[in-house]
Amino acid sequence: MGGGTALVTGAGSARGIGKAFVEELRRRDARRIYATDLARQGVETLAADDAGGCIVPLTLDVTDEQAIAAAAARCTDVDLLINNAGVCFPSRLIGALDLVGARREMEVNYWGMLAMCRAFAPVLAARGGGTIVNVSSIYGLVNHPYVGSYSASKAANASLTQGIRAELRDQGTRVVAVYPGTIDTELSASNPSRDKTPPQVLAAIVLDGLERGEEEIFVGPDALDVAARLATDGKGVERDYAQALARRLENRS
Ligand SMILES: NC(=O)c1ccc[n+]([C@@H]2O[C@H](COP(=O)([O-])OP(=O)(O)OC[C@H]3O[C@@H](n4cnc5c(N)ncnc54)[C@H](OP(=O)(O)O)[C@@H]3O)[C@@H](O)[C@H]2O)c1
Repeated sequence: MGGGTALVTGAGSARGIGKAFVEELRRRDARRIYATDLARQGVETLAADDAGGCIVPLTLDVTDEQAIAAAAARCTDVDLLINNAGVCFPSRLIGALDLVGARREMEVNYWGMLAMCRAFAPVLAARGGGTIVNVSSIYGLVNHPYVGSYSASKAANASLTQGIRAELRDQGTRVVAVYPGTIDTELSASNPSRDKTPPQVLAAIVLDGLERGEEEIFVGPDALDVAARLATDGKGVERDYAQALARRLENRS
Protein backbone atom coordinates (compact mmCIF):
# COMPACT_ATOMS: atom_id res chain seq x y z
CA MET A 1 0.00 0.00 0.00
CA GLY A 2 3.06 2.26 0.23
CA GLY A 3 2.25 5.50 -1.62
CA GLY A 4 -1.40 4.64 -2.37
CA THR A 5 -4.65 6.15 -1.12
CA ALA A 6 -7.28 4.22 0.80
CA LEU A 7 -10.80 4.88 2.00
CA VAL A 8 -12.11 2.89 4.99
CA THR A 9 -15.77 2.93 6.03
CA GLY A 10 -16.87 2.48 9.65
CA ALA A 11 -13.42 3.56 10.89
CA GLY A 12 -14.40 5.57 13.96
CA SER A 13 -15.21 2.85 16.47
CA ALA A 14 -12.64 3.12 19.30
CA ARG A 15 -11.59 -0.54 19.23
CA GLY A 16 -13.02 -1.54 15.87
CA ILE A 17 -11.68 -3.23 12.76
CA GLY A 18 -11.95 -0.05 10.68
CA LYS A 19 -9.68 1.86 13.02
CA ALA A 20 -7.20 -1.03 12.95
CA PHE A 21 -7.20 -0.91 9.12
CA VAL A 22 -6.47 2.83 9.18
CA GLU A 23 -3.61 2.41 11.67
CA GLU A 24 -2.08 -0.53 9.77
CA LEU A 25 -2.32 1.35 6.46
CA ARG A 26 -0.60 4.27 8.12
CA ARG A 27 2.19 1.98 9.33
CA ARG A 28 2.57 0.69 5.77
CA ASP A 29 3.10 4.20 4.42
CA ALA A 30 -0.19 4.87 2.66
CA ARG A 31 -0.02 8.35 1.15
CA ARG A 32 -3.51 9.30 2.27
CA ILE A 33 -6.26 7.47 4.18
CA TYR A 34 -9.83 8.71 4.23
CA ALA A 35 -11.13 7.49 7.58
CA THR A 36 -14.92 7.63 7.36
CA ASP A 37 -17.78 6.85 9.69
CA LEU A 38 -21.34 7.75 10.62
CA ALA A 39 -20.16 10.00 13.43
CA ARG A 40 -17.29 12.45 13.12
CA GLN A 41 -15.74 12.17 16.57
CA GLY A 42 -13.97 8.81 16.26
CA VAL A 43 -12.38 9.53 12.88
CA GLU A 44 -11.38 13.03 14.00
CA THR A 45 -9.54 11.54 16.97
CA LEU A 46 -7.75 9.13 14.62
CA ALA A 47 -6.66 12.02 12.41
CA ALA A 48 -5.62 14.16 15.37
CA ASP A 49 -3.34 11.35 16.62
CA ASP A 50 -1.59 11.15 13.22
CA ALA A 51 1.40 13.46 13.30
CA GLY A 52 2.04 12.97 9.56
CA GLY A 53 -1.34 14.38 8.56
CA CYS A 54 -2.12 11.46 6.21
CA ILE A 55 -5.46 10.60 7.78
CA VAL A 56 -8.40 12.61 6.47
CA PRO A 57 -11.56 12.27 8.60
CA LEU A 58 -14.92 12.26 6.80
CA THR A 59 -18.49 11.72 7.89
CA LEU A 60 -20.05 9.08 5.67
CA ASP A 61 -23.24 7.10 6.15
CA VAL A 62 -23.06 4.17 3.72
CA THR A 63 -26.85 4.11 3.49
CA ASP A 64 -26.99 7.70 2.20
CA GLU A 65 -26.49 7.62 -1.58
CA GLN A 66 -26.11 11.42 -1.86
CA ALA A 67 -23.37 11.42 0.76
CA ILE A 68 -21.67 8.51 -1.02
CA ALA A 69 -21.79 10.36 -4.36
CA ALA A 70 -20.26 13.43 -2.68
CA ALA A 71 -17.48 11.28 -1.19
CA ALA A 72 -16.73 9.70 -4.57
CA ALA A 73 -16.61 13.16 -6.19
CA ARG A 74 -14.23 14.39 -3.52
CA CYS A 75 -11.97 11.35 -3.02
CA THR A 76 -10.87 10.86 -6.62
CA ASP A 77 -7.44 9.54 -5.63
CA VAL A 78 -8.68 6.32 -3.96
CA ASP A 79 -6.87 3.12 -5.06
CA LEU A 80 -8.10 0.92 -2.22
CA LEU A 81 -11.69 0.92 -0.95
CA ILE A 82 -12.26 -1.00 2.28
CA ASN A 83 -15.98 -1.60 2.85
CA ASN A 84 -15.84 -2.33 6.56
CA ALA A 85 -18.92 -0.56 8.01
CA GLY A 86 -21.39 -3.03 9.42
CA VAL A 87 -24.04 -3.61 12.05
CA CYS A 88 -25.09 -6.71 13.91
CA PHE A 89 -28.18 -7.02 16.06
CA PRO A 90 -28.52 -10.20 18.09
CA SER A 91 -31.63 -10.99 16.14
CA ARG A 92 -32.91 -14.35 15.13
CA LEU A 93 -34.89 -14.75 11.93
CA ILE A 94 -38.08 -16.12 13.50
CA GLY A 95 -37.34 -15.39 17.16
CA ALA A 96 -36.90 -11.60 16.79
CA LEU A 97 -39.84 -9.46 17.89
CA ASP A 98 -39.95 -7.60 14.56
CA LEU A 99 -37.98 -7.04 11.35
CA VAL A 100 -36.37 -3.73 12.32
CA GLY A 101 -32.91 -5.17 13.08
CA ALA A 102 -32.94 -7.51 10.10
CA ARG A 103 -33.84 -4.69 7.73
CA ARG A 104 -31.12 -2.43 9.14
CA GLU A 105 -28.52 -5.19 8.79
CA MET A 106 -29.44 -5.60 5.14
CA GLU A 107 -29.49 -1.81 4.66
CA VAL A 108 -25.94 -1.31 5.97
CA ASN A 109 -24.23 -4.65 5.33
CA TYR A 110 -25.62 -5.27 1.84
CA TRP A 111 -27.20 -2.17 0.27
CA GLY A 112 -24.60 0.17 1.80
CA MET A 113 -21.74 -1.96 0.51
CA LEU A 114 -23.30 -2.20 -2.96
CA ALA A 115 -23.83 1.58 -3.12
CA MET A 116 -20.18 2.17 -2.14
CA CYS A 117 -18.92 -0.25 -4.81
CA ARG A 118 -21.09 1.34 -7.49
CA ALA A 119 -19.99 4.89 -6.62
CA PHE A 120 -16.28 4.09 -6.39
CA ALA A 121 -15.98 1.72 -9.37
CA PRO A 122 -15.43 4.66 -11.80
CA VAL A 123 -12.94 6.27 -9.40
CA LEU A 124 -10.94 3.04 -9.24
CA ALA A 125 -11.15 2.60 -13.03
CA ALA A 126 -9.73 6.08 -13.52
CA ARG A 127 -6.85 5.10 -11.22
CA GLY A 128 -6.02 2.08 -13.35
CA GLY A 129 -8.08 -0.55 -11.53
CA GLY A 130 -7.39 -0.47 -7.82
CA THR A 131 -8.78 -2.80 -5.17
CA ILE A 132 -12.06 -3.25 -3.28
CA VAL A 133 -12.02 -5.13 0.02
CA ASN A 134 -15.44 -6.22 1.28
CA VAL A 135 -15.64 -7.32 4.91
CA SER A 136 -18.11 -10.20 5.22
CA SER A 137 -18.08 -12.78 8.03
CA ILE A 138 -17.58 -16.50 8.32
CA TYR A 139 -21.30 -16.46 9.22
CA GLY A 140 -21.88 -15.30 5.64
CA LEU A 141 -20.84 -18.80 4.55
CA VAL A 142 -22.79 -20.72 7.20
CA ASN A 143 -25.75 -19.25 9.07
CA HIS A 144 -25.19 -18.83 12.80
CA PRO A 145 -28.83 -18.90 13.88
CA TYR A 146 -28.15 -16.87 17.06
CA VAL A 147 -27.51 -13.96 14.67
CA GLY A 148 -29.51 -15.41 11.78
CA SER A 149 -30.48 -12.16 10.08
CA TYR A 150 -26.92 -10.79 10.37
CA SER A 151 -25.64 -14.00 8.78
CA ALA A 152 -28.11 -13.59 5.92
CA SER A 153 -26.94 -10.02 5.31
CA LYS A 154 -23.31 -11.20 5.27
CA ALA A 155 -24.21 -14.00 2.85
CA ALA A 156 -25.71 -11.33 0.58
CA ASN A 157 -22.54 -9.27 0.75
CA ALA A 158 -20.38 -12.34 0.05
CA SER A 159 -22.45 -12.98 -3.07
CA LEU A 160 -22.27 -9.35 -4.18
CA THR A 161 -18.49 -9.53 -3.85
CA GLN A 162 -18.37 -12.44 -6.32
CA GLY A 163 -20.66 -10.64 -8.76
CA ILE A 164 -18.75 -7.38 -8.60
CA ARG A 165 -15.47 -9.26 -9.06
CA ALA A 166 -16.76 -10.58 -12.38
CA GLU A 167 -18.22 -7.23 -13.47
CA LEU A 168 -15.09 -5.22 -12.69
CA ARG A 169 -12.55 -7.70 -14.06
CA ASP A 170 -12.28 -5.89 -17.40
CA GLN A 171 -11.45 -2.57 -15.75
CA GLY A 172 -8.69 -4.27 -13.76
CA THR A 173 -10.24 -3.84 -10.30
CA ARG A 174 -9.33 -6.56 -7.83
CA VAL A 175 -12.24 -7.46 -5.52
CA VAL A 176 -11.38 -9.22 -2.27
CA ALA A 177 -13.64 -10.86 0.31
CA VAL A 178 -12.69 -11.02 3.99
CA TYR A 179 -14.29 -13.66 6.20
CA PRO A 180 -13.44 -12.98 9.84
CA GLY A 181 -14.31 -15.27 12.70
CA THR A 182 -14.84 -13.66 16.10
CA ILE A 183 -12.87 -10.43 16.37
CA ASP A 184 -12.42 -8.62 19.68
CA THR A 185 -14.49 -5.48 19.09
CA GLU A 186 -17.63 -3.85 20.45
CA LEU A 187 -19.71 -5.70 17.86
CA SER A 188 -18.81 -9.09 19.35
CA ALA A 189 -19.00 -7.94 23.00
CA SER A 190 -21.96 -10.22 23.75
CA ASN A 191 -20.20 -13.25 22.21
CA PRO A 192 -18.85 -15.32 25.13
CA SER A 193 -15.91 -16.76 23.13
CA ARG A 194 -12.57 -16.53 24.92
CA ASP A 195 -10.69 -16.91 21.66
CA LYS A 196 -11.25 -13.61 19.88
CA THR A 197 -8.76 -12.30 17.33
CA PRO A 198 -7.54 -8.73 17.96
CA PRO A 199 -8.62 -6.30 15.19
CA GLN A 200 -4.97 -5.26 14.68
CA VAL A 201 -4.12 -8.88 13.80
CA LEU A 202 -7.00 -8.96 11.30
CA ALA A 203 -5.82 -5.74 9.61
CA ALA A 204 -2.27 -7.07 9.25
CA ILE A 205 -3.46 -10.44 7.88
CA VAL A 206 -5.72 -8.76 5.32
CA LEU A 207 -3.09 -6.30 4.11
CA ASP A 208 -0.52 -9.13 3.90
CA GLY A 209 -3.09 -11.14 1.91
CA LEU A 210 -3.58 -8.22 -0.49
CA GLU A 211 0.16 -8.05 -1.05
CA ARG A 212 0.14 -11.78 -1.89
CA GLY A 213 -2.74 -11.32 -4.35
CA GLU A 214 -5.32 -13.34 -2.36
CA GLU A 215 -9.02 -12.98 -3.24
CA GLU A 216 -10.61 -14.70 -0.22
CA ILE A 217 -9.08 -14.00 3.18
CA PHE A 218 -10.15 -15.93 6.29
CA VAL A 219 -9.15 -14.47 9.65
CA GLY A 220 -9.03 -16.20 13.03
CA PRO A 221 -8.85 -19.84 14.11
CA ASP A 222 -12.66 -20.20 14.15
CA ALA A 223 -12.99 -18.86 10.58
CA LEU A 224 -10.20 -21.12 9.32
CA ASP A 225 -11.74 -24.12 11.06
CA VAL A 226 -15.23 -23.46 9.65
CA ALA A 227 -13.84 -22.83 6.14
CA ALA A 228 -11.97 -26.15 6.24
CA ARG A 229 -15.02 -28.02 7.50
CA LEU A 230 -17.36 -26.39 4.97
CA ALA A 231 -15.21 -27.87 2.21
CA THR A 232 -15.89 -31.40 3.42
CA ASP A 233 -18.87 -31.42 5.78
CA GLY A 234 -21.17 -28.42 5.29
CA LYS A 235 -24.18 -30.15 6.88
CA GLY A 236 -22.08 -31.01 9.94
CA VAL A 237 -21.18 -27.34 10.43
CA GLU A 238 -24.85 -26.36 10.05
CA ARG A 239 -25.85 -28.96 12.66
CA ASP A 240 -23.19 -27.68 15.09
CA TYR A 241 -24.51 -24.13 14.90
CA ALA A 242 -28.10 -25.34 15.33
CA GLN A 243 -26.99 -27.16 18.51
CA ALA A 244 -25.10 -24.07 19.71
CA LEU A 245 -28.35 -22.06 19.39
CA ALA A 246 -30.31 -24.72 21.27
CA ARG A 247 -27.70 -24.71 24.11
CA ARG A 248 -27.73 -20.90 24.38
CA LEU A 249 -31.53 -20.79 24.53
CA GLU A 250 -31.55 -23.56 27.15
CA ASN A 251 -29.02 -21.67 29.29
CA ARG A 252 -31.18 -18.56 29.12
CA SER A 253 -34.37 -20.31 30.25
N1 LIG B 1 -16.27 -8.21 15.46
C1 LIG B 1 -16.47 -9.37 14.87
O1 LIG B 1 -16.44 -10.46 15.51
C2 LIG B 1 -16.72 -9.45 13.37
C3 LIG B 1 -16.71 -10.69 12.76
C4 LIG B 1 -16.96 -10.79 11.39
C5 LIG B 1 -17.19 -9.64 10.66
N2 LIG B 1 -17.19 -8.44 11.28
C6 LIG B 1 -17.47 -7.24 10.44
O2 LIG B 1 -16.39 -6.32 10.55
C7 LIG B 1 -16.88 -5.01 10.29
C8 LIG B 1 -16.42 -4.07 11.39
O3 LIG B 1 -17.03 -4.48 12.61
P1 LIG B 1 -16.41 -4.23 14.05
O4 LIG B 1 -16.34 -5.53 14.71
O5 LIG B 1 -15.22 -3.36 13.97
O6 LIG B 1 -17.64 -3.45 14.70
P2 LIG B 1 -17.81 -1.98 15.28
O7 LIG B 1 -16.73 -1.68 16.23
O8 LIG B 1 -19.23 -1.88 15.71
O9 LIG B 1 -17.58 -1.07 13.97
C9 LIG B 1 -18.55 -0.94 12.96
C10 LIG B 1 -18.48 0.49 12.49
O10 LIG B 1 -19.42 0.67 11.41
C11 LIG B 1 -20.10 1.88 11.64
N3 LIG B 1 -21.38 1.97 10.96
C12 LIG B 1 -22.58 1.42 11.32
N4 LIG B 1 -23.52 1.79 10.46
C13 LIG B 1 -22.93 2.59 9.53
C14 LIG B 1 -23.39 3.31 8.41
N5 LIG B 1 -24.68 3.29 8.05
N6 LIG B 1 -22.50 4.04 7.69
C15 LIG B 1 -21.21 4.07 8.05
N7 LIG B 1 -20.70 3.45 9.12
C16 LIG B 1 -21.57 2.71 9.85
C17 LIG B 1 -20.27 1.91 13.14
O11 LIG B 1 -20.63 3.21 13.59
P3 LIG B 1 -21.50 3.35 14.96
O12 LIG B 1 -20.64 2.76 16.05
O13 LIG B 1 -21.72 4.81 15.06
O14 LIG B 1 -22.75 2.55 14.72
C18 LIG B 1 -18.89 1.47 13.60
O15 LIG B 1 -17.98 2.55 13.65
C19 LIG B 1 -18.40 -5.14 10.18
O16 LIG B 1 -18.78 -5.21 8.83
C20 LIG B 1 -18.69 -6.47 10.86
O17 LIG B 1 -19.88 -7.07 10.42
C21 LIG B 1 -16.96 -8.30 12.61
